[in-house]
Amino acid sequence: MKKIWIGSSWKMNKTSSEVTTFCDAITPILEQVPGTIQTFLIPPFPYVREVAEAVDRYGTCVGVQNICWAAQGAFTGEISAGMAKDIGALIVEIGHSERRQMFNETDETVNRKVRAALGTGLKPLVCVGDTAEEKRWGVSAEAIVRQVKIALFGLSKDELHNVIIAYEPVWAIGEQGVPASPYEAENGLYTIRQALIDMFGEDKAQQIILLYGGSVHQDNAAELIAQPSIDGLFVGRAAWDAEGYAELLSIVGCYCE
Ligand code: PGA
Repeated sequence: MKKIWIGSSWKMNKTSSEVTTFCDAITPILEQVPGTIQTFLIPPFPYVREVAEAVDRYGTCVGVQNICWAAQGAFTGEISAGMAKDIGALIVEIGHSERRQMFNETDETVNRKVRAALGTGLKPLVCVGDTAEEKRWGVSAEAIVRQVKIALFGLSKDELHNVIIAYEPVWAIGEQGVPASPYEAENGLYTIRQALIDMFGEDKAQQIILLYGGSVHQDNAAELIAQPSIDGLFVGRAAWDAEGYAELLSIVGCYCE
């Protein structure tokens, strides 16, 4: 049976002392998380090693928020998949809408980064999502299917068990975001699963972990995780402090029982 994945990207937040405070507070909680739940944390690059050292022993996966598609060379300011792995990352978040909107991430660069991650033994966590305009025009399904198909273009079936996809509607993310209803979240992930079945067949498509993200919080987590196509939750603000993350783990843990 698949585990329920629940984790958080901290985006560009936290100081060094805040990271230490978070790790001190969360480790006793992680120790008690049931084996049915897979926890993960995605801090900014400078804190990855510290967080990995604190949480590795509890089975929590640590990730980075971006990588370069190239393995090495003249790419000033970039970090390779190998470097991310060296500092303790197991997951790479790729194609978050903030990177697509503000840092020129395209479907093509997402695909190149997914291949770089898999080639290095990291799990790509690919974010896809429709914008508010696409939703208004009624082309949400087309938008997310296009993103998924290009992100995974050219992958072999053997690589798929390492792939994680998060449906993160752009209109649902952040302070201005309107959380997707459980129906909308389920619909988006069902659409993604059908696209994966088209691409890779039923068995392989079912291995891919599908997460929902975008204004997940303590009040909507239980309803979201109860949806049949949702394998886990990718949380921002509501899990940035240890108490918030612990509460979400306990809500999802209750659902597992
Ligand atoms: P949010 O962020 O939960 O704060 O809306 C989600 C995300 O960007 O992944």
